[in-house]
Amino acid sequence: MKINYQICQNCRLCVQVCPSKILSVNENKQTYFKEERKHICLECGHCMAVCSTQAITVNSMTYEKDFEQIPENNINYPEFINFLKTRRSVREFKNKPVEKEKLQQIIEAISTAPFGAENDGISISIITEKSVIKKSLPLMSKFYRDLKKWFKNPMIRYIIKKKEGIETFNTIKNHLMPMINLNHYDLSSYNAITRDAPAIIIFHSKPDAEEHTEDAHICNTIAMLTAHSLGLGTTIIGLIGPAVNKFPELKDLFKIPQENKVITSIIIGYPKYKYLYSVKRNRQKVTWI
Ligand SMILES: Cc1cc2nc3c(=O)[nH]c(=O)nc-3n(C[C@H](O)[C@H](O)[C@H](O)COP(=O)(O)O)c2cc1C
Ligand code: SF4
Ligand code: SF4
Repeated sequence: MKINYQICQNCRLCVQVCPSKILSVNENKQTYFKEERKHICLECGHCMAVCSTQAITVNSMTYEKDFEQIPENNINYPEFINFLKTRRSVREFKNKPVEKEKLQQIIEAISTAPFGAENDGISISIITEKSVIKKSLPLMSKFYRDLKKWFKNPMIRYIIKKKEGIETFNTIKNHLMPMINLNHYDLSSYNAITRDAPAIIIFHSKPDAEEHTEDAHICNTIAMLTAHSLGLGTTIIGLIGPAVNKFPELKDLFKIPQENKVITSIIIGYPKYKYLYSVKRNRQKVTWI
């Protein structure tokens, strides 16, 4: 971490923006890094991004490698809200593969995501190989068949509640079980798991990586919105993670390290149908104080 005093203008903008208060001004009115706080640097890059003379360097970050010029802010609220309103979960897809360039654009967009603690904590597996998706389905379906059996056992219900928490327990009981009881995931007449989408994006992480759950969901949301901007449709699929986490064969198939945990996933492809209306939802309970 260093400041090149040959070109530093002493504007102190870096001091103002550092969220960890690592930068300060000494008695000679020079900006400097506080030795005793250097270890709490988030590597957010704010100090470098605000410096007009590129006088400041943090760890191994360089202006050439880690930064690019910010374009003009060119999106306004009417455009943005319209964009959000036209996104719908898409579960029926054209028989058309998703181009690699578009998937790369989605990855680029994900790299802009805010992150809780580790900026490289989330790993992404992109599956476009039809045969791999097809091969994964029987095991995923089996997971939900097994879950039906397990959930009848009061001891297992108790363990799920204790180990996975009340949120997961209620999701299984109130949301999944009614569908499982209708054999919704048995693949006999339709694929209600991956919906025959041409591609799947899976977000996973080491289970001990800080704030990885929140980070993965943010990455997934950005992926979903970026896909929408590229004319693609997506649906978040909560069903994939638990099955992949249970069966090592699925992790191998999707090239997910065995020690990693899947947090969330989306299916992605070209929408087969176009929606004419957006649903008005006023669900959020807002309190103004
Ligand atoms: C955490 C989460 C998990 C979801 N899991 C599934 C899923 O496994 N299968 C599915 O078809 N849709 C899934 N969805 C999509 C929701 O059903 C969908 O977002 C909701 O019906 C609202 O529709 P919209 O996205 O078109 O506004 C999930 C959504 C979220 C946020
Ligand atoms: S990169 Fe480190 S020193 Fe620079 S603003 Fe972020 S936390 Fe502060
Ligand atoms: S932002 Fe750059 S020029 Fe301004 S005080 Fe910090 S290092 Fe110096």
